[in-house]
Amino acid sequence: MADVRARLGEFLAAREAKVVAVVDLQFGDTGKGGIVDRLAGWADVIARGTGGANAGHTIVLNGESHAFHLVPCGILYDAEGKLNVIGSGVALAPSVVADELAVLDAERHPHEGLRISHRAHLVLPFHIALDRLREKRAAKGKIGTTGRGIGPCYEDYLARQGLFANDLLNPEEFRRKLTRTFAARKNLFEAFDPAHVKEVMMSDALGGGKYYDEKEIFAIEAIIAEYGRYAKTFANRIIDTDALLQEAKAAGKRILLEGAQGHLLSVDYGTYPYVTSSDCSIEGLAKGVGLRPDDVDVSIGVAKFPYMTRVGEGPFPTELGGTESAAWCSTATKEEEAKKYPGASVNAKDEMEQGVGMRLAGFEYGATTGRPRRTGWFDLPLFRYALRNGANSIALTKLDVLDGCETIRIATAYRYDGPAYRVGALELTPGTELTTAVMDPVVLKNVTPVYKEFPGWLSPLGKAREKGALPQKLLDLLDFIRKESGASLDLLSVGPDRDDILVI
Ligand code: GDP
Ligand code: IMO
Ligand code: MG
Repeated sequence: MADVRARLGEFLAAREAKVVAVVDLQFGDTGKGGIVDRLAGWADVIARGTGGANAGHTIVLNGESHAFHLVPCGILYDAEGKLNVIGSGVALAPSVVADELAVLDAERHPHEGLRISHRAHLVLPFHIALDRLREKRAAKGKIGTTGRGIGPCYEDYLARQGLFANDLLNPEEFRRKLTRTFAARKNLFEAFDPAHVKEVMMSDALGGGKYYDEKEIFAIEAIIAEYGRYAKTFANRIIDTDALLQEAKAAGKRILLEGAQGHLLSVDYGTYPYVTSSDCSIEGLAKGVGLRPDDVDVSIGVAKFPYMTRVGEGPFPTELGGTESAAWCSTATKEEEAKKYPGASVNAKDEMEQGVGMRLAGFEYGATTGRPRRTGWFDLPLFRYALRNGANSIALTKLDVLDGCETIRIATAYRYDGPAYRVGALELTPGTELTTAVMDPVVLKNVTPVYKEFPGWLSPLGKAREKGALPQKLLDLLDFIRKESGASLDLLSVGPDRDDILVI
């Protein structure tokens, strides 16, 4: 393990890196938490800048799994005196931070160095309720959110009626703003079926009814009391972290930025409206910790390979099983699918079964919601699109999942099959070929991927630590990806544990 840490340190030193960003180039869940964990040994400060508890970042340390939603993955290095920061761009659910600290306490992991931005956006119970009620009502047109209140929290911010972590430090101001914002939001709740409202308010996600008031919907005093308790727990951690990061940068400290979600889920760059509500790109991440994008020396784009996943609704051109898979994954549980698809395997001839086989092989069930993640082949048009955001180094992850898969398919381009459609100056008609994805759901829902097939490697990758130990078939495939995308493929993750990574 010390060897991996030293090698990653050398890798960053060779690039004279001081500020490193880890961003997901796909639809989230690429294993970026694991990449952050492996690089955190190098850093002095580790910071989250975007998203909130919609994120689920899993780290496996000595075979033991740790899942973080808000606390940065660098916290497991707290004993080394590193600072971990929840930055100003984050949607902060205090209850989740409290739960994560309680788990760290139970596991005897210190967390002295956790700091929270005074400008982090406070997630309030009515954000969570609104998120869940909308998804319930929309049924068909839903986004498939994580139900963590992320969209409504950022909406309040843009509507200039949001609350910040700083309001936890000032009880009177908290009460004033909470009352004002709720007054502005209350009529939204009156438009929902009262039975649905009650069901959501009584759910575990909202403390089993602790904020519910039959008449007013929300018991404002209960929210004030609960957030007052969080204020007591966190007050000494809430500071101006933008200034902290800017000073750390000026002092030449090593800074590691932990992205959340993925580029294709960014509100600014993703498959809008099937996106999250923050900008998960490199610049969104830098801004969300108080830095500028050009402060970032090395931005490591993380992508699963040679398959990929998506959770929730929205286009996914290479999805195995297509619309059948999308529909299945929006309601099914892991237990149900083991029964329904007994023939599932990464080599199944039936696409749906092959997709389930990948899910089982990669344990592709959401770290936040437990939902089955939709699976499909690696998509070069999407990858080329995401690379435009400027990642200057790539980490490919989960390579071991398709060990033993006989034929690997890579989407090299799309053929457009839909009705005549314009995207700016681009006129699409049936048969138009695209080599880079166009971020418009009308387009992405109407393309057929053009695949190139490669023979898979049949021996397990798990123990490889040197490029020379990798099968030639994989090296040829990586050469192809390099040539087709221009990406600098530098890190390969071949297992979930801290040690399972190669610098190539
Ligand atoms: P994140 O949201 O991008 O941090 O990713 P998640 O934690 O949601 O999902 C990634 C899952 O894959 C986690 O369960 C990780 O432990 C696991 N994982 C990460 N890298 C690898 C890898 O290289 N191989 C395998 N088999 N699992 C991995
Ligand atoms: P990490 O950081 C995968 C998806 C949801 C939904 C859409 C909007 O673990 O990679 P939201 O709750 O944000 O309003 O949901 O975005 N989504 C994620 N998918 N990984 C994540 O985070 C995600 N965070 C949000 O599934 O489709
Ligand atoms: Mg995740």
